[in-house]
Amino acid sequence: MANTILKASGIFHSYGKATAKREVLKNFSLSVGEGEFVALMGPSGSGKSTFLHLAAALLVPDSGEITIGSTIVSSLNDSKATVFRRRNIGIVFQSFNLVESLNVAENIALPAKLDGRRVDRDRIDELLNELGLDGMASRRVNELSGGERQRVAIARALYLNPAIILADEPTGNLDQKAACQIREMLVELNKREKCAVLLVTHDPLMASSAGRICFLKDGAIVKELEGPNGAEEISSAYLEYTR
Ligand SMILES: Nc1ncnc2c1ncn2[C@@H]1O[C@H](COP(=O)(O)OP(=O)(O)OP(=O)(O)O)[C@@H](O)[C@H]1O
Ligand SMILES: [Mg+2]
Repeated sequence: MANTILKASGIFHSYGKATAKREVLKNFSLSVGEGEFVALMGPSGSGKSTFLHLAAALLVPDSGEITIGSTIVSSLNDSKATVFRRRNIGIVFQSFNLVESLNVAENIALPAKLDGRRVDRDRIDELLNELGLDGMASRRVNELSGGERQRVAIARALYLNPAIILADEPTGNLDQKAACQIREMLVELNKREKCAVLLVTHDPLMASSAGRICFLKDGAIVKELEGPNGAEEISSAYLEYTR
């Protein structure tokens, strides 16, 4: 087994207070190995996005610990978390939108720029090529299709060679063809860039790309399925374990 890149142990997380308190994650634990591709599936409202936000240090758990590499992300303060996230985590969330006033290349290099680094034109070109966006560097993002935008978001996530990509339903808003392209690219990038991927998805076909599938129910992982698995196997396992 490869070294662990992400490790969450005994996570509890709730929203609201007193009588309105809702416990979403209850003794949740999950590990992702270096370079591993893991899918996280579970019913709507089961806490998948909550966990990705915790792993990205955008939220702090009530208790438990999350480490990425050797850093305990669950206890970073806001400013340390911002820098750590930028340098070590690739985020592809539906809500982490592109900056409309910037072009494609500027969006991709934005995290590096915020980190005070020189823009690496070769790296941008390499990513544009890997993601099928050749020649689009100076296009405005508001002129792009949904699939193209999501590929720009993936390029931005990869730009600084993160150890792990956290992706929250990256194909949720796309048609089947665009979704398929994104899926194939994530698989390719996971192999080529040796970057671990933790992918939240409701789509069994997307999940079939993962080496392991974790099913979340009632606040914790109830089943892990080693891959490779076909979409049909995943669908029936989903029904069996998250019902
Ligand atoms: N900021 C918040 N304040 C209060 N409750 C929240 C907040 N964010 C999420 N929740 C609640 O926590 C639960 C888990 O939400 P979460 O978004 O993690 O689910 P999910 O598994 O990602 O669902 P989906 O598949 O629909 O995206 C839901 O019941 C949701 O209503
Ligand atoms: Mg969600």
